[in-house]
Amino acid sequence: MTVLVTGGAGFIGSNFLFYYLEAHPSCRVVCLDSLTYAANLATLRPLLELERFRFVRGDIRSRETVFSLFEEERPELVVNFAAESHVDRSIASPELFTQTNVLGTVTLLEACRAFGVQRFHQVSTDEVYGELPPERPELLFTERSPLCPSSPYSSSKAGADLAVLAWARTYGLPVTLSRCSNNYGPYQFPEKLIPLMILRCLEGKTLPVYGTGLQIRDWLHVSDHCRALDLILEHGREGAVYNIGARSERSNLEVVRSICRQLDVPESRIEHVPDRKGHDRRYGIDASLLCRELGWQPETDFEEGLRQTVQWYLSQRAWWEPILSGAYRAENERLAACV
Ligand SMILES: NC(=O)c1ccc[n+]([C@@H]2O[C@H](COP(=O)([O-])OP(=O)(O)OC[C@H]3O[C@@H](n4cnc5c(N)ncnc54)[C@H](O)[C@@H]3O)[C@@H](O)[C@H]2O)c1
Repeated sequence: MTVLVTGGAGFIGSNFLFYYLEAHPSCRVVCLDSLTYAANLATLRPLLELERFRFVRGDIRSRETVFSLFEEERPELVVNFAAESHVDRSIASPELFTQTNVLGTVTLLEACRAFGVQRFHQVSTDEVYGELPPERPELLFTERSPLCPSSPYSSSKAGADLAVLAWARTYGLPVTLSRCSNNYGPYQFPEKLIPLMILRCLEGKTLPVYGTGLQIRDWLHVSDHCRALDLILEHGREGAVYNIGARSERSNLEVVRSICRQLDVPESRIEHVPDRKGHDRRYGIDASLLCRELGWQPETDFEEGLRQTVQWYLSQRAWWEPILSGAYRAENERLAACV
């Protein structure tokens, strides 16, 4: 069995590669990643030597790249993590997000159709549903909630979701789709809330929090996400959409305060900055379909997972220092030239 994983040099994709290669010792895994600023190929260094792993630098927007890789590798399973993923960047560069997230996904769908894969899985986000009112904590997103995205990022992910479902209906492509809440854990690029705050704490800097900081996110440890994806690939119903989340809602301010406590940093370092445009106030995910159908349960409690994540960043300076200095870009080039 050959599995194609796109975007595997990013945060969730790299965690998934480690998880999947260990859980499926007889599978061959090919990773396609164009190495944008969000990729750190050094994360995958331990895998680059493995015979049953191949890294290919390439862009999911390029039909030629994607089709020739499918021709060569004939993957049975395709899991699409490749995306532009940072909401702030989407507000600055909306076209790039549409090109990568929508058109890149369509290119993959077309290749899957042409080469007849057994399954295409699209990794999506709860952000496609838009926001929930914070004053109605009983309301949660279900798979039937309308898509109502707020940002260029979430609208591009929603566009990709709709294409995936349309390719299933029109062409009979065997697809599954998952919409997950905010992830945290090892190897997350330090532009996202949790690693950004940890590293700014360590550097003695201020801790910028958008607006009041009362925006609520539903946090899931990346290892729980990887396990859910593996279950969906193995046992998920063809054509189904599955929400993934741990019912672990916290405001951004609570998360930052927790990090301050763990690193013994005074909360006076928190600085409220002007709010993000179109900022969603609350996400909350109902993952009961996944629990019921596939027996998935989150295993990592948020406080414990956050403690482990803080410890991971404390012990893995060699991973994040090259990112902060920018040296990782040259290392990406060097490693990509060797594979
Ligand atoms: N991070 C989260 O909390 C979260 C939550 C739910 C869903 N998701 C989704 O999960 C997926 C992975 O998220 P992440 O946080 O790991 O993202 P990330 O930004 O850390 O990684 C994205 C990866 O995709 C690659 N990539 C980008 N454009 C590409 C292109 N055109 N061709 C090939 N590769 C390309 C990048 O080089 C990078 O390695 C995304 O689809 C995202 O929408 C993320």
